Amino acid sequence: MRRKVTVVGAGNVGANTAQKIVAKELADVVLVDVVEGVPQGKGLDMLESAPVEGYDARIVGSNGYEETAGSDIIVITAGFPRKPGMSRDDLLLANYEVVKSATEQAAKQSPEAILILVTNPLDAMCWTALKASGFPRERVIGMAGVLDSARFRTFIAEELDVSFENVTAMVLGGHGDTMAPLVRFTNVSGIPLSELMDKGTIDRLVQRTRDGGAEIVKYLKTGSAYYAPAASAVEMVESILKDKKKVLPCAAYLEGEYGFHELFVGVPVKLGRRGIEKIYEIDLQPDEKAALKKSADAVRELIEVLKQKVQ
Ligand code: NAI
Ligand code: 2OP
Repeated sequence: MRRKVTVVGAGNVGANTAQKIVAKELADVVLVDVVEGVPQGKGLDMLESAPVEGYDARIVGSNGYEETAGSDIIVITAGFPRKPGMSRDDLLLANYEVVKSATEQAAKQSPEAILILVTNPLDAMCWTALKASGFPRERVIGMAGVLDSARFRTFIAEELDVSFENVTAMVLGGHGDTMAPLVRFTNVSGIPLSELMDKGTIDRLVQRTRDGGAEIVKYLKTGSAYYAPAASAVEMVESILKDKKKVLPCAAYLEGEYGFHELFVGVPVKLGRRGIEKIYEIDLQPDEKAALKKSADAVRELIEVLKQKVQ
């Protein structure tokens, strides 16, 4: 049976996510956006590259949700970027409306789907989608840890001049300045990072990882990163559709794990056909626990703002 993935938001992240899904023949794709013509045009353009690249997945663009019916996965990238003069809370509330409405419409057409959230502020948008869909927590997952860990892996591989593939890293917590790169769980072909670099170098790469999104924005000026974010979302899509059961850092709704309640926080999870099939609760040392708590507290603050303004 052919698989179907809906990508909501045909901007930079959404279009690249859609393109990678069809190019890898993971599923047929429906690309949805509010701007008339954009999803249709981008979808058709991607379809026309199929004969050249040799893939047989279909892609179609739409301004509505009817065509998304029966999707296995819905990836939500729709939203506004932060504009000059806009506070973090303004962005939070604007994207809350976008994600709520997109989730409600998409979930109605595909009640059994798995939701992957990308829109920022990520952890708060996951909460929004969980509430708007009414889906169980296993089927509402946020993309951030895969990207943040990929950035850490990149910087480590470059520093040591080794293969990117050899580097395993784990960045947990919320997707923000307080994210928690865990050095103890980061290694190169099993060799702990502390055996390969001095503390000063590790600290520098940890900070660069925390600033990874801002580093790209500084270059682009008018937007944020999208190639690595799209690749990260597609790794999650692939693990689910192929039931690969990859263990990846993703934003999951915690109900007591790590001592957090009713909060999305980036933690290691097993991603398979049923969505989050397991949350790994690893024994953290006091400094790691403190870093995760600081990050979770920052997420909680955003959720409190949302609760006050929208309920
Ligand atoms: P973009 O501005 O290129 O695309 C956003 C798209 O959403 C636009 O095409 C816009 O028309 C569409 N849109 C707006 N309202 C909509 C609605 N109600 N329904 C359907 N579509 C709607 O932005 P980009 O670069 O694609 O980023 C998208 C989001 O992903 C942003 O919130 C960004 O901050 C976030 N992001 C998150 C990352 C993560 O690690 N979680 C990484 C990179 C981006
Ligand atoms: C990033 O980390 C903007 O969240 C986005 O690149």
